Amino acid sequence: MRPSREKNEDVCKEKEYIIPVILKLSKTPFLLILTLCTYLLLSRTTGPVKPVPLVQTGLAAYCAGTTPIGSSEFLDRQRRLAETLVKHNASAYIAEPGANGLFFFNVSTSDWFLSERPLLLIITALQSSGITEANVSVLTPKFESSRAKMLPIPANVKFFTWPEHENPYEHAAAALAGMPGVIFVDGSMRKFIADGLQKALPTAQVVTSSPEVNKIRERKSKVELNILKCANEVTLLAIRAVHKKLHIGIRESEARSLMAVALADAGLQQAGCLTLFGENAALPHGSGTDRALSESDFALFDCTGSLHGYFSDVTRTVALPNSKIPEEHQYIWYHVHSAQTAASRAAHAGGLANQVDETARSYLRQVGYDSYFSHRLGHGIGLEVHEEPYLHGGSNRTIEVSHTFSNEPGVYIEGKVGVRLEDCFFINSEGKAVFLTDGVGGQAKSPWSP
Ligand SMILES: *[C@@H]1O[C@H](CO)[C@@H](O)[C@H](O)[C@H]1NC(C)=O
Ligand SMILES: *[C@@H]1O[C@H](CO)[C@@H](O)[C@H](O)[C@H]1NC(C)=O
Ligand SMILES: *[C@@H]1O[C@H](CO)[C@@H](O)[C@H](O)[C@H]1NC(C)=O
Ligand SMILES: *[C@@H]1O[C@H](CO)[C@@H](O)[C@H](O)[C@H]1NC(C)=O
Repeated sequence: MRPSREKNEDVCKEKEYIIPVILKLSKTPFLLILTLCTYLLLSRTTGPVKPVPLVQTGLAAYCAGTTPIGSSEFLDRQRRLAETLVKHNASAYIAEPGANGLFFFNVSTSDWFLSERPLLLIITALQSSGITEANVSVLTPKFESSRAKMLPIPANVKFFTWPEHENPYEHAAAALAGMPGVIFVDGSMRKFIADGLQKALPTAQVVTSSPEVNKIRERKSKVELNILKCANEVTLLAIRAVHKKLHIGIRESEARSLMAVALADAGLQQAGCLTLFGENAALPHGSGTDRALSESDFALFDCTGSLHGYFSDVTRTVALPNSKIPEEHQYIWYHVHSAQTAASRAAHAGGLANQVDETARSYLRQVGYDSYFSHRLGHGIGLEVHEEPYLHGGSNRTIEVSHTFSNEPGVYIEGKVGVRLEDCFFINSEGKAVFLTDGVGGQAKSPWSP
């Protein structure tokens, strides 16, 4: 039970009264000890009651044993980047904290907030007798250099500092001394930094890095796939736990906070769920109206959270045991489910991204709902929720072993109903698509069995 406000005030008054008494009696040590004990006992029995969590999923331990990315994997990524630099005649690669900062240097924007003062993560290639190695350096604001040196960058890092009254980019030039030519800057680097670098390095060509740099990130390693599997499995388990706690009449905001508690309980960071009831789900990225769930409504949950930096993305459209879902809406649910299955069978190594999208779309065309499938089938997933390669009609990218994608067909009829089902998958060593949620049963079975 939660303590009422009045009760809390009583507790405070009691404590206010006891403290002067302790002070008065504290003239003799024996009495001091006795009264202190009484006080501690009193404050224990009348202390604030712990708030009761809204849901208890018991999922906290589920991913606790998942191995994070180790040092040797980071060093390997840096070496592959150095080889890419050599291949493209580029002398350096420079990034800010972010997704690629996390991939190559283990530095995300939660480790280092992006401010107007640049912190630059730099890799150059060291070549000796045909072997390419990566040389990692960091340019940091001088007053922050102690903090920068605490960043857990798995490498032998050389630090360069720039004092507040000097141009940081001149110091970047010093860090790159003797290396003119092409300098790759990460695609997500802010323009004022890229411009500043170009101005300070007039003889260099500061260009956005080749797409090949991003491709190093696209095919996931075994360790990455294990993290992605656990994150996606536990997200689905959290949705199922919340599904059991829903009732007719619950509001979108209440269901959304149940999901937030469940995902936090599951140990995921940066977590959240789109939570939309009935016709609100017809706007695929809608924010809802906080309406109550009625008997005839589906509830849509599109949830994400990160584990060791890697994101999950799972969507379920559910009904309750006592729901009375209109027949047409139930047909739509099963059609979306069939489209998801068809796309999963079509995805294979060597195939094209647009063909997978087309498979789901052509199934929905046969049953007359393709015009209500208004978005692409899916996206790559990893250190970003949405990343390359994408599964859409305009993509002729070839699918490769260890690529990861979402598979999320939907049907959205504005003012009426929205259904989306989403599971992410990877391409296994045999070239086949395997759902990242397979460890907990994979795809939904029905609106009542997510
Ligand atoms: C990467 O950074 C995290 C903290 O964000 C740290 O716990 C982990 O040990 C680092 N990894 C390596 C291999 O240094
Ligand atoms: C790199 O430089 C070499 C020699 O200067 C040249 O032959 C090659 O075409 C260049 N490669 C690229 C990708 O620019
Ligand atoms: C690594 O790069 C930095 C910055 O360019 C340079 O000062 C340093 O000498 C390089 N280390 C080696 C071993 O070449
Ligand atoms: C894909 O499309 C691009 C741009 O239209 C084209 O340059 C490229 O050659 C195509 N690749 C394949 C594999 O068809």
